[in-house]
Amino acid sequence: MASGRESWSSRLGFTLAAVGSAVGLGNMWRFSYMTAENGGAAFVMLYVLMTALVGLPVMLAELTLGRGAARSPVQALIHYGGRPWGALGIVFVLAGVAILSYYGVIAGWTVRYGIEALTQGFPADAGDKFGAIATGGAAVAWHLGFLAVTTLVVSGGVRGGIERAALWLMPALGVLVVGLALYAATLEGASAGYAFYFQTDFGALADMDVLKDAAGQAFFSLSLGMGAILTYASYLSRDQDLPAESVTIALSDFAVAFIAGLVVFPLIFALGLQDEVGGSTLGALFITLPKAFASMGTAGTVIGVAFFAALVVGALTSAVSLLEVVVSTLIDQTGMERRTAALVCGGAIALLGVPSALSLDVLGLVDQVGGQLLLILGGLALAIFVGFFMPDPTGEASEGSRFGALLFAWRALLRFVVVPILAVVSVYTLIDTWNALAALVAG
Ligand code: PFF
Repeated sequence: MASGRESWSSRLGFTLAAVGSAVGLGNMWRFSYMTAENGGAAFVMLYVLMTALVGLPVMLAELTLGRGAARSPVQALIHYGGRPWGALGIVFVLAGVAILSYYGVIAGWTVRYGIEALTQGFPADAGDKFGAIATGGAAVAWHLGFLAVTTLVVSGGVRGGIERAALWLMPALGVLVVGLALYAATLEGASAGYAFYFQTDFGALADMDVLKDAAGQAFFSLSLGMGAILTYASYLSRDQDLPAESVTIALSDFAVAFIAGLVVFPLIFALGLQDEVGGSTLGALFITLPKAFASMGTAGTVIGVAFFAALVVGALTSAVSLLEVVVSTLIDQTGMERRTAALVCGGAIALLGVPSALSLDVLGLVDQVGGQLLLILGGLALAIFVGFFMPDPTGEASEGSRFGALLFAWRALLRFVVVPILAVVSVYTLIDTWNALAALVAG
């Protein structure tokens, strides 16, 4: 085992960093538009089911592999499975590179919206504004700026950079989101938003397309399927209770997504903007909400700035975890110094994101392939590995845990529930990706 490997300074530090990885643009931007696209509460129910039944076991699998091997993904998989499984680690790193490349673009929009709202308020013509800033030279510049900050945090190391940022930023995010939800509850007409959010269309529960999106969203939101949680767990000590951690991380992530819905839907419905949400998939957050803020005067500016600040915080702590997967791999493979590795990886990914900053079609496609397909396939392969091939995962997972006696059920869940569900979801996701590619090629 690599002695002198970095480690977290406290249990809370790890928990907050892992929650920081999970909570991000996925909870607010992706969750709200996925919910809107898939018919409200039915999607939310399937998403909860996927989080509990599939997400949680895979989360524990990543935690177990990472802590057990105390290595970054490629080496961790080789350690337990031999050379061929190392290839899966390479897929993880590629997924991280792909996701961060467009995540930086969206985070760049978010930072810009927040700063410009602070200085100029929200414009009434939010649709035009989004059209004007989403792509082009300025989008490239804000994306590069965001990735520069991300790189800075990662080059500070596990304790001095990642953990320190999470300790400050995550509590702030929690306060902001809860405050916003309380405010939204006071709006006249908020109840129509709650009705949309909670009213269930049971037919949609059997819809494979909704199921596929719910599974994809669970993986994206929980940061699963590409080794981010695995990498963070590789800096853990052996006395941390992994099953308990996986529940804490998943519950916190769900809580923020759920509360974000309690902000977004009442606001949209109270201001009568519901018809605009379905129009653009990206629209719920960057077009409809700013419209709502603009029509609310000064209060809208304050609330809107708080909302975008929370979003920026979530985006930064998630981007840090994406970059850390790539950086820790480079460090473990080459012995490169952390700062140099952070600069090399951050710089390369920043450049790879430029096409996404120039075209929404490219951004959407990279999200489809990196943020959806690769995570599902990565999660499936990981569940197969830990479920069938890893020697004694239950023993490793139960070390330091109060729940060791329950863990036989975990391996059975991986084998007989997670693998079959993800296999079916993979097929649907592959078809979907193929169609998206074909549509793009056909113009
Ligand atoms: N979970 C993050 C979010 O919800 O925004 C995104 C993400 C981070 C996905 C890290 C995957 C990952 F490995």
